[in-house]
Amino acid sequence: MQTETRDRDRHSTPVSISVSVRITMLNPFRVLDPATVGEASSELARLGERARIYAGGAELLLLLRHRLIQADTLVDIKRIAELNRIAWEGGLLRIGATVTHHRLEREPLVREHLPMLASAESQVANIRVRNQGTLGGNLCFNDPHSDPPTALLVHEAAVAVAGPKGERRIPLSDFLVGMYATALEADELLTEVVVPPLPPGWGEAYLRIHRLQRPTLGVAAAARLQNGSIEGVRLAVGCVGPKAERLAELEAKLRGTTLADALRVIEDEKSYLKQLLQPVDDLLGSADYKLYMTRVLLSRALSQALQSPSPFPLPLEGGEDEREGVGWGALGRAAEEINKDEGGRMKDESFECRVSSYELKPKTPQDVALSLTINGRPWKGQVPVEETLLEFVRARLGLTGTKRSCESQVCGACTVLVDNRAISSCNTLAFEAHGKSVLTIEGLAAGEQLDPLQEAFIRNVGAQCGYCTPGQIMAAKALLMENPSPTRDQIAEWLSGNICRCGAYPAIAASILEASHENQRR
Ligand SMILES: Cc1cc2nc3c(=O)[nH]c(=O)nc-3n(C[C@H](O)[C@H](O)[C@H](O)COP(=O)(O)OP(=O)(O)OC[C@H]3O[C@@H](n4cnc5c(N)ncnc54)[C@H](O)[C@@H]3O)c2cc1C
Ligand code: FES
Ligand code: FES
Repeated sequence: MQTETRDRDRHSTPVSISVSVRITMLNPFRVLDPATVGEASSELARLGERARIYAGGAELLLLLRHRLIQADTLVDIKRIAELNRIAWEGGLLRIGATVTHHRLEREPLVREHLPMLASAESQVANIRVRNQGTLGGNLCFNDPHSDPPTALLVHEAAVAVAGPKGERRIPLSDFLVGMYATALEADELLTEVVVPPLPPGWGEAYLRIHRLQRPTLGVAAAARLQNGSIEGVRLAVGCVGPKAERLAELEAKLRGTTLADALRVIEDEKSYLKQLLQPVDDLLGSADYKLYMTRVLLSRALSQALQSPSPFPLPLEGGEDEREGVGWGALGRAAEEINKDEGGRMKDESFECRVSSYELKPKTPQDVALSLTINGRPWKGQVPVEETLLEFVRARLGLTGTKRSCESQVCGACTVLVDNRAISSCNTLAFEAHGKSVLTIEGLAAGEQLDPLQEAFIRNVGAQCGYCTPGQIMAAKALLMENPSPTRDQIAEWLSGNICRCGAYPAIAASILEASHENQRR
């Protein structure tokens, strides 16, 4: 073991460190960095069971940590530019597999053409999972407790998958085969999701109830009234049984009825819903409760769809934020730029899938060169590829303000900012921060001058246990960077992913409001 040099001064961070100490909870693996879809699929074909696609890692890293799956190679698809774009073409929205939930919730093209999907995406988990998790990862994992598939079924979306034999398009309803099961072959990857908008004049709504940040039930409804009766209707339900389902039989019964009659029909459909959805008892609720709430939410969603044309008000609330690289307008423009080729034309996105005989050079354990800025100071060194950012800041740098608790992306105690975005450091690999700027609680104060958020937390007694407090403050920091004047409701939604067990939320929310006013006064 090499000697480790650490600077534990709370106001400073080591400029450089070189260690070969292993401090990881994950078993060693290697990561491949394909540049094209063809390279990625040929690696899957070559390595078979030993390789897994690694997108956001929100689920994959949890599975590896809990030894629920084994993989010695992760094929990282985030560097494949064509998988990270959103484009409106030929009357369809085309969403690349590695587009994250948070980008979808804010992307102007999605909010304009698919407001129900933007609404569903905004309800996924917490801001840290939404910053990390991708739409492709969500659909390929096909956890029954997911939001996007339900909204996408109502849109009659399709997915494109690519493998050594070429590309194929599959309707989403056929792609989602069962609990954690899809129509993907072992050497295929999902490349994009193609979504038609709803017909003109249709209203839509996505409603969900949840527990511990996972949905217990999600309902999507789209419909249109003509002369007082329902002319067209599409309904889908997710999270109740093994997979999200369209309710075709019920839709047929509702066509031509008034809303009042439709609500009575839904009320009487218990046995149909039970047979179709196959509700199960689990930690998120009993089968009976889910079945009862399905009818309640179906009625509410249908009523909302028929009464309000769009569940997501436009223009975007909070207005345009023109700070570089942060604003919603900036995000939209960035997406447009990604989609253009060197001559400024929109790229042709038919994915070329070629099998080649090369072997990618993997990042192997202990050989990852990491160079980043931590709390405003540069850091360079080597870290094992499987080291998490939490292990990196706490054990390697001695910055112990960031806390370890649930290690499941639920509690938020480990929240740090990477390029101004809140992430769970417990479930993020350190190498993902290469070339980026990491901010921990130790970097908030400027010398002896505390950040307005820290001062407000002290004044309002927003900190009680102190253990969850760094995570709360870092989450609040990310919120104020993205939305400098949030409402109390927006604060409550954002902070819902940071658990306070002692009930200090009112004081925490008051602290954030106060700091937002203070920031604007300065
Ligand atoms: C605490 C917590 C709460 C959550 N709450 C919600 C919620 O409320 N609603 C919701 O919908 N989801 C929720 N999720 C699930 C999560 O958001 C999604 O599953 C996430 O989007 C996964 O995406 P990822 O990119 O991180 O996938 P990864 O973890 O990288 O991959 C997941 C699986 O899919 C495979 N995979 C990924 N991308 C591809 C691809 N393009 N082609 C082929 N295979 C691929 C991987 O090999 C792996 O098997 C939650 C997750 C956590 C941890
Ligand atoms: S979310 Fe990372 S420790 Fe709880
Ligand atoms: S302040 Fe930490 S649990 Fe409430």
